[in-house]
Amino acid sequence: MTIPSVLPLLKHLPIRTPTERRVERLLHDLVRPTRPMPRPTLWSASWETLHSLCTRIRTAPDPITMCEFGSGTSTAWFALAARAAGGGHVHSVDHELRYADRTRELLTAQGVAEWATVHHGPLAPSARNQDQPWYDERVFELVPAGINLVFVDGPVASLGSDIRYPALPTIADKLADHCTVVLDDTHRAKEQAIWERWISELSDEFLITVEPALSRSTAMLLQRR
Ligand SMILES: C[S@@+](CC[C@H](N)C(=O)[O-])C[C@H]1O[C@@H](n2cnc3c(N)ncnc32)[C@H](O)[C@@H]1O
Repeated sequence: MTIPSVLPLLKHLPIRTPTERRVERLLHDLVRPTRPMPRPTLWSASWETLHSLCTRIRTAPDPITMCEFGSGTSTAWFALAARAAGGGHVHSVDHELRYADRTRELLTAQGVAEWATVHHGPLAPSARNQDQPWYDERVFELVPAGINLVFVDGPVASLGSDIRYPALPTIADKLADHCTVVLDDTHRAKEQAIWERWISELSDEFLITVEPALSRSTAMLLQRR
């Protein structure tokens, strides 16, 4: 690898700027982990994204029903936020059993297993997205209706150019009348394309308000027309 080809990867490394350290502290104050949380990996959502989502869970007027695509330490942060809020539940779908199990172990270690469920949905051929695989859709039968918070951070983006596109079409009929959708990695062109496609396809059914992008994710508020 040449130095220029490595440079774009640096922003994904868990090297924290002073601002990120401040956001990390704020997140800890907000949800109060039971024991030290694992360090972020290259696959983890950013501190900023975690703080934004946990704030939504912690301050929601009613308990959230969350659907996450792609489990990990994020799932435990969200479960901690639900515990701090005194209600709500996170349903996280993972295509890899070993990562699903690792997340379940973290939930148990943090004492928040009652606030989140990790569903294993292996990738399978799917008619939703041309030739790209998608989670075996039987797994979504385990996710209840009334979802008012969505975080799309899976499957692994390297598996296909718009591998995450089916997320909203798959659960559209389970979304609450008011719902927040957050897509991770919107600094990348392929997630930008998914984002634009979602907006165009959902606009007839929902009034959509897009929030200013964070450094690596973007949120939109959906209100059913
Ligand atoms: C972007 S990751 C999800 C990360 C998670 N939302 C978080 O912020 O902690 C997407 C998928 O990658 C896989 N994954 C998680 N951690 C991984 C790791 N350390 N190495 C390789 N794959 C990983 C899991 O199957 C997960 O569903």
